[in-house]
Amino acid sequence: MTETRERIEGCCKKLRLRRLTDNLDQVKETDPEKYLLSLLEMEVENRNRARIERSIKTAGFYTMKTLEGFQFDAVTVPAGLSPESLESLKFIDDHHNLILYGNVGTGKTHLATALGIEACRKDYKVGFYRTAALVNLLTALHDGGELDKFMKKIEKLDLLICDEWGYVPVNRDGAQLLFQVVSACYEKRSLIITTNLDFSRWSNIFLDETMTTAMIDRLVHYSHLLIFDGESHRVRTSLMRR
Ligand SMILES: Nc1ncnc2c1ncn2[C@@H]1O[C@H](COP(=O)(O)OP(=O)(O)O)[C@@H](O)[C@H]1O
Ligand SMILES: [Mg+2]
Repeated sequence: MTETRERIEGCCKKLRLRRLTDNLDQVKETDPEKYLLSLLEMEVENRNRARIERSIKTAGFYTMKTLEGFQFDAVTVPAGLSPESLESLKFIDDHHNLILYGNVGTGKTHLATALGIEACRKDYKVGFYRTAALVNLLTALHDGGELDKFMKKIEKLDLLICDEWGYVPVNRDGAQLLFQVVSACYEKRSLIITTNLDFSRWSNIFLDETMTTAMIDRLVHYSHLLIFDGESHRVRTSLMRR
């Protein structure tokens, strides 16, 4: 290694540009300005990619799904929305909620995950939870006196996804805590809820009529309801049917 090269690498190290040293030989430009520009652009690109990967990891998705891999044909999207407008994530800028409602296996989790991943790619902060796990977490944090810290984390999100909403009954304390989270999102950040329960049955799950009504009120105010009425994708694609 030449002395100049060594000193360049030393500077990169001090400036925390370690990855840039890997690219010193990749760029083939001879013009010094063009060379520097290409190198810097590669660094920007690498940092972007790393940031998106981190944000997808922190969001806590259970599966990796994409919008390209999703077929909208069996989803009833409300007037004023379209697959394209969903993909543009305008609902996040508007602080609107999406309620994805339908039977098991119809693609609710897929779409919620794909929108969440798209949001990470566009630099929104996302959190993905199965609702039962979120309630358990909230209860544990509350009991340990650490709920405030978690609520601050929720308040930094642009999009909170609660998957499998209403699949497991929630006791009164749990419902109260969940209500706190929903309230923290109200008009400030977007929620996506996936559920197979219609509103009339929510009080059977949350076991508190008044609070359920208040929760539905908050959720529905700025919500779009997407109905997944296709035959289960698992059934459609299963080998059993061949
Ligand atoms: N419309 C769709 N387009 C592409 N894949 C789908 C669609 N609906 C369901 N799937 C696939 O079928 C499986 C079950 O879907 P999932 O999203 O888990 O259903 P749900 O959450 O409604 O129970 C997943 O592997 C998902 O990727
Ligand atoms: Mg699901």
